[in-house]
Amino acid sequence: MSPFDHPSRVRSFPWPFTGDSYRYSANVEPAPKLRRTVTGAWGGTILDLDNQYEAELAERHAILQRDSSRFVELPHMRPAAWDALLWGLRALCAQEADMRLERAGEGFIWTNDRLGVRHAFRYGADESLPAPPLVFLASQIQDDIVLLDQREGQLWVDAGCVTFASNWSLAFNIGMSFLEIHGPVPQNYADGAIPRAEQFLMRLQAGQPFRRMNWTSTAGHRLDTALDSYADWGASRQAMAGAEAFAEVFHMRVEVQHFIRLPESGAIMFLIRTYLLPLSDILAVPAWARQFALVLTDLPDDIIQYKGLAALRPRLIRSLTQADATGSRYPHTQTDLS
Ligand code: HEM
Repeated sequence: MSPFDHPSRVRSFPWPFTGDSYRYSANVEPAPKLRRTVTGAWGGTILDLDNQYEAELAERHAILQRDSSRFVELPHMRPAAWDALLWGLRALCAQEADMRLERAGEGFIWTNDRLGVRHAFRYGADESLPAPPLVFLASQIQDDIVLLDQREGQLWVDAGCVTFASNWSLAFNIGMSFLEIHGPVPQNYADGAIPRAEQFLMRLQAGQPFRRMNWTSTAGHRLDTALDSYADWGASRQAMAGAEAFAEVFHMRVEVQHFIRLPESGAIMFLIRTYLLPLSDILAVPAWARQFALVLTDLPDDIIQYKGLAALRPRLIRSLTQADATGSRYPHTQTDLS
């Protein structure tokens, strides 16, 4: 199969492995930077608007309607939220032909033709926006957003709009330090990476964004796997290892995370863009199937446990090695949904 035959969700998927083994590390690199994969490329811009843009923003809106705790902001973070909004809207219009941010008198006019949005606002005037600034930004970009305050030689998670959390809860973590929120990460294998990452982030300069990736898995094409909605997805996660249509149910979940020092407030903006790819798509790319099987075989037990892969690993490795041995094609006839 030539790379051009793959659907766009495969061609632009940020495949997380560069070798046959994976360990936690302070894996940060300057952004943006186009990264080529065996199927295509990703990462040419910080914000990535794809053909799921409208659908994902509608989903975010619905989640915020039913659970307002997905947006939390400690009062001292409002100036940072405005800073984040301006950074985000400027970044959007620098890359999207159908979006504009124009000066108008004391304020701005934001136009997003893709969503049919046109809104005048004054920077810092809360009443001039239809939603708090962080929520407004979250209605224009696919990323989840966290803002960290830097004080007393530490970073603090003091605001966020996070609707697609991977097995954590913003409402639970709000006000915690960077080291506290990473408490559940298996520390033996993190080997000091978390404290090193915090030191690195505290030295981050405005205008020099960085990124890293993280990967895990999800049952079904489900973006909202926050602890807050566990009742909706926990059972399907538990049942995944025995699922009949395993290759359609198991999804690799990759987060491309950006770190941006905001210019006015000095806060750190942490953007999390989540991508989901079914195992059936991975099986169709022999190099990915082979590499994922090797990574899984080699992963230490506590990372396997933390990522919830213990019950899934044997079946996953079986599927992946069979696909590799047969040279792999799409296992089922499917239309391009991407
Ligand atoms: C700047 C803001 C960051 C925030 C707000 C953040 C937040 C989080 C959260 C909430 C989790 C889930 C923890 C849980 O299980 O409850 C997590 C996991 C993790 N974070 Fe961060 N993180 C940040 C940056 C970083 C950086 C720079 C690194 C680099 C070492 C890092 C490494 C990790 C690792 C290795 C995990 C485990 C993920 C997995 O295996 O699935 N984080 N992070």
